Amino acid sequence: MQSLLLKTAGAACFVLTASTVAHAQDCTFDPDKDFFDFEQAEVDALYSCVSDRLAEAYAKEGDEIGTVYRDWGVTATGPAAPGAHSNRFLLTFANDVAYETYVQYGFGDDFSMPVGSVLAKESYSLTKEGEPRPGPLFIMTKVEAGGEAEEFGNWVYSAVRTNGKPMGIQQGFCHGCHSAFADQDSMGYPDRDVRFETN
Ligand code: HEC
Repeated sequence: MQSLLLKTAGAACFVLTASTVAHAQDCTFDPDKDFFDFEQAEVDALYSCVSDRLAEAYAKEGDEIGTVYRDWGVTATGPAAPGAHSNRFLLTFANDVAYETYVQYGFGDDFSMPVGSVLAKESYSLTKEGEPRPGPLFIMTKVEAGGEAEEFGNWVYSAVRTNGKPMGIQQGFCHGCHSAFADQDSMGYPDRDVRFETN
């Protein structure tokens, strides 16, 4: 996490300097390149370009998670190339309740996240001109068993749009995919390349 924070701090300086010189040029990436061929350095550079805009977008309307998730722990060594979420690049944050458990990337029949866990995943993509475009903040909140979320693994799914407003989503849509990770308490986890080493 520390290295990411340092990187992010470095990135802020970079963007500042770049914006006075040739911002657009430095933050344009090859739109024809297959996302899966992006090197980690390119993924990191792309994040530097879009990072501030993401935090600003999600906090715009005072959303209770959109305004605080950046104070939470980062759950990977860095942002990752797109997974299943619509070809969007991503980086996930976990609140204090969730963090220690999440970064063990646990699994098994008895494995489950503590009630009160909140996971928030930033997403962004590239326009066809190769410029970074913020996408929604995807959220999962673990609630008590026995309530309305029982059929969704006791997770409540939500999302914040880039205009800062909540996104209308169907629990079944999100969980339909997440339930495939049944032995990981319905979590997909970051790409293996960017996971922290666990003991
Ligand atoms: C097509 C399958 C699919 C759908 C639909 C989907 N997800 Fe995911 N989701 C994943 C995968 C795979 C991961 C792990 C890799 C990644 O982050 O992309 C993930 C990761 C996440 C995470 C980070 C926590 C974790 O490790 O699981 C959150 C939060 C999340 N999704 C929320 C949502 C929400 C909210 C919706 C509905 C709007 C949704 N997802 C719909 C596949 C899906």
